[in-house]
Amino acid sequence: MVIHPQSYPQPVCIVLKGFKNKGFIHSTSTIAQNICSFMISHMNKPFRQTTVADKLIGELDRALNNIFCKQTSSRPFPADIESSDAPLSPDQKRQAASLMRVNHAGEMAAQALYQGQSLTARDPSLAGKLQNASLEEADHLNWCRRRLEELDERPSLFDPFWYAGSFTIGMAAGIAGDRWNLGFLAETEKQVVRHLNDHLDRLPENDERSRAIVEQMKIDEQGHADLAEYLGAAELPQPIKQMMKLTSKVMTSVAEKV
Ligand SMILES: [Fe+2]
Ligand SMILES: [Fe+2]
Repeated sequence: MVIHPQSYPQPVCIVLKGFKNKGFIHSTSTIAQNICSFMISHMNKPFRQTTVADKLIGELDRALNNIFCKQTSSRPFPADIESSDAPLSPDQKRQAASLMRVNHAGEMAAQALYQGQSLTARDPSLAGKLQNASLEEADHLNWCRRRLEELDERPSLFDPFWYAGSFTIGMAAGIAGDRWNLGFLAETEKQVVRHLNDHLDRLPENDERSRAIVEQMKIDEQGHADLAEYLGAAELPQPIKQMMKLTSKVMTSVAEKV
């Protein structure tokens, strides 16, 4: 392959001509060909294959990012859209903060579940859909954390534990096969919707900011459940559903307090 030096961008020509004038090179076209053949030989080499260690480091990075860093939100903060900033009494503030801490812990678990499920999903297109849904969950995580900060409260101290446990459960669901994976997703989201309805009953009536966040999350979670069913979710056996309810009860009871 012959590349003519005239076809180079002006700054490259100037440098090459300078080297030639100084006697460092004999011909600009020779060095051009050397550069091109070097680039072409490297472009033809495949990138290094991703190893298990690479994946583990990537997952650890994602987990630390979710647990300790503020997530960015792709949509506007629902609390700023329609709600007013009505003052809350100390008791109302405490009640709202407890419930929003539970929601934050639930969203932390959702991040880990989706991640675990998409890692072990067999159909690559399903993995992609799970990753897309997890973007909405990242919005939820961001909104709950912002609301907690507005209420001068912190997330659950057990967040790393919720993340690790949910990641393991998500991977197990994916290993069971795609229909069961989707069935697990549908049932999780349905339980979350029921739990959010309960929170709407328990949040202070005048806490419009928290209520606006929970309302939007409820719409999104129902959408995730509908998507899973549309994609062919299997109906989970009753004992599994009961076990999921029990696990979520433990998490919500602990996160409400610490
Ligand atoms: Fe969510
Ligand atoms: Fe969801």
